[in-house]
Amino acid sequence: SVYPDAKTASIDVAQRIASLVRAKQREAEQVVLGLATGSTPMYVYEELVRLHREDGLSFRNVVSFNLDEYYPMQPDSQQSYVTFMKKHLFDHIDIQPDNVHIPDGTLPKEKIKEYCLAYENKIAAFGGIDIQLLGIGRTGHIGFNEPGAERYSKTRLVELNDVTRTDAASTFGGKEYTPTEAITMGIDTILAAKKIMLMAWGTGKAEIVKKTMESEITAEIPATFLKTCEQVEFVLDSEAASSL
Ligand code: GLP
Repeated sequence: SVYPDAKTASIDVAQRIASLVRAKQREAEQVVLGLATGSTPMYVYEELVRLHREDGLSFRNVVSFNLDEYYPMQPDSQQSYVTFMKKHLFDHIDIQPDNVHIPDGTLPKEKIKEYCLAYENKIAAFGGIDIQLLGIGRTGHIGFNEPGAERYSKTRLVELNDVTRTDAASTFGGKEYTPTEAITMGIDTILAAKKIMLMAWGTGKAEIVKKTMESEITAEIPATFLKTCEQVEFVLDSEAASSL
């Protein structure tokens, strides 16, 4: 779907999340949200915080799994996705800290494989992800599944693409300080979600949106794998959709 602007689109996405959270609450069930970072989901989080404050939306039955985290990364670092999520969402809502999951960027390398498997198992133990939010990188990455990522990839340690590191460099005060690796859910982890909303805003995303829509399904543009699944919705603003 194409919306006039990012804010209108984000409010709609947030309202749909809120409806599911409330419906599950009525049945005393948990909701599992797959969450993303970056500038794209920020308005969604803003609207969820507003719904919590002004509309009594509670997140006590929400379990969350974030897509990715830089590696290595200390959770209390300015640039960590833990800090991002706290600042934009978790510090302002009543989600239970035990229900929040973000890949751990502090592990020694030899522990990562086992940790990633446990991350997968935990998602499965909660019954899978109900709604997965996604942004898209200029390389066509989803999470940190860069070009070359396999369709059946799972949560794992990956190397970051040069374009992605260039885009992240300003956050880290220069490319030389930008991590070269990350832990990310895999394509298969993402596609297992019951509902997926890939959001893209602004002219900067128009080209990769066009490529994703028009290309055949290929690991060279990981977002194209989304087109194989019915539960996927592309949520665009008019600028991101302007080259279609
Ligand atoms: C990062 C994140 C992705 C995100 C992408 C786009 O690399 N790991 O999950 O979708 O950047 O970022 P932005 O939303 O700021 O354009």
